[in-house]
Amino acid sequence: MAPLVVLISGCSTGIGLALAARLGQDPDKKYLVYATMRNLAKKEGLEKAAGDALDKTLFVRQLDVTVDDQDKSIFEFIMGKHGRVDVLVNNAGFGFFGPLEAMSMEKAKSMFDTNYFGTVRLIRAALPIMKKQKSGRIVNISSILGHLAMPYMDVYNATKFAMEGLTESLLPQLKHFGISISTVQPGPVATKFAETMSTNSKAEDDNIIVSEDTVKEMTAFQALLSKPDLFTAQETGPVIDVIVECVQAEKPKLRYPTSENVRSWVAKRYREEGVTGLESLFE
Ligand SMILES: NC(=O)c1ccc[n+]([C@@H]2O[C@H](COP(=O)([O-])OP(=O)(O)OC[C@H]3O[C@@H](n4cnc5c(N)ncnc54)[C@H](OP(=O)(O)O)[C@@H]3O)[C@@H](O)[C@H]2O)c1
Repeated sequence: MAPLVVLISGCSTGIGLALAARLGQDPDKKYLVYATMRNLAKKEGLEKAAGDALDKTLFVRQLDVTVDDQDKSIFEFIMGKHGRVDVLVNNAGFGFFGPLEAMSMEKAKSMFDTNYFGTVRLIRAALPIMKKQKSGRIVNISSILGHLAMPYMDVYNATKFAMEGLTESLLPQLKHFGISISTVQPGPVATKFAETMSTNSKAEDDNIIVSEDTVKEMTAFQALLSKPDLFTAQETGPVIDVIVECVQAEKPKLRYPTSENVRSWVAKRYREEGVTGLESLFE
């Protein structure tokens, strides 16, 4: 069987890098992976992880998911080389932790532009190709926070809720074209995500004033997050196992939680009326 042509966004670090390396190094060479990142100056880690697969079954390319037309260019490039795109993984994303009033509108818009509209851009560019070839698989890296809101991550939660809605809405429209669409829902994962989030969350606008009471409330909530077991980060490996399961499934499901914890928290949300968000876990 011809190898599946795969495009992944956000491969400079974390889940994107690990997924690209896993698929690119498949022992049966089942995949040709286009591992993209917005800044090619960061490609060294991925190139190292790719090892012998580099430029054979794993190709590193530039793609900023917030830039109009880069989406079309990357698909045109891949179509020119292979004449098809089989799998699209929307992985690029970042977070912000803090009171809503401490987040600039610029940051809020940029988060939607990356986490949500970045996904919309790539799916829009992929659909004409996948519909024509009457096959394709779209995997959106969402989060448990696409179902349960985490206090102080308001806009991030909203981007992932939006991603869940988009996925659910497209599923019935795409199945008649042989295209599947799913979300993968990790809880916390041991990547640079938290570190980047903490840098992103530093006050960026001198005009933003947060009251002492708000800081006190937030600090009390942060203390709860260190509760043992509840928010222990999952290693990247098992998360990649779940993404690969989704990529390989004969009949992919709509949603793929990456751990039992995530599965049970989300189930609790839908079982119990009144559960509004992750804070309910601390009651
Ligand atoms: N780690 C977690 O706890 C966790 C939990 C649930 C869901 N997720 C989701 O998993 C996905 C991957 O996150 P991760 O944990 O692997 O974090 P990560 O290590 O911080 O990786 C995020 C990736 O997204 C890229 N990115 C950001 N903005 C971009 C843009 N405009 N265009 C292209 N790429 C861009 C980053 O590139 P740069 O290096 O250039 O910034 C990086 O490659 C995200 O969608 C995240 O929301 C993560």
